[in-house]
Amino acid sequence: MRLVYSPEAIEQATMNLAKQINKDYKGQQIHLIGVLKGAFIFLADLVRHLEVPCSVDFVRLSSYGASTRSTGRVEEKIPLQDPIGGRHVIVVEEIVDSGTTLAKLLADLEARGPASLRVCTLVDKTGRREAEIPVHYRGFRLKDGFLIGYGLDLDERYRNLPGIYVMEEGEAL
Ligand code: IMP
Ligand code: MG
Repeated sequence: MRLVYSPEAIEQATMNLAKQINKDYKGQQIHLIGVLKGAFIFLADLVRHLEVPCSVDFVRLSSYGASTRSTGRVEEKIPLQDPIGGRHVIVVEEIVDSGTTLAKLLADLEARGPASLRVCTLVDKTGRREAEIPVHYRGFRLKDGFLIGYGLDLDERYRNLPGIYVMEEGEAL
């Protein structure tokens, strides 16, 4: 595997995103929804740079198994706990790939009448996008490649790495 985003680069990108969010939502309250499991580290780092009042909830949707390719199916494993009607919601993802997961979630959320709904992702992987996703806040943009580290896993491994790495094609696991 090869390092693509160092811990320092991730920290800088996260701070820039938080700065943008602080500016856009000045004087308002926001409700962040982290998409488990992958977003747990990014969300934890992002909120510590936020100055606007915020609440946090999580949802778990899964479309990946022990594979590096999306199956296209989305299964809801842990539903949201808090109501979102009338609130300024930001969905926080560590990566958007095909967009299948997020498209379903956004449609579900929109139906519950939030005051506003935006998406913040650390990595926007655009090469295999299948659903049109309005990404308002993105840390990095990448065409393709399977990433691990900083919350991103391959069959539940490597989430703990402080940097983000790309798995080289054909490399032994
Ligand atoms: P999508 O539905 O194809 O956009 O994928 C959604 C989820 O798949 C993301 O939230 C990640 O958890 C996972 N995923 C997508 N690309 C990668 C990757 O490169 N490495 C690890 N997980 C990924
Ligand atoms: Mg995930």
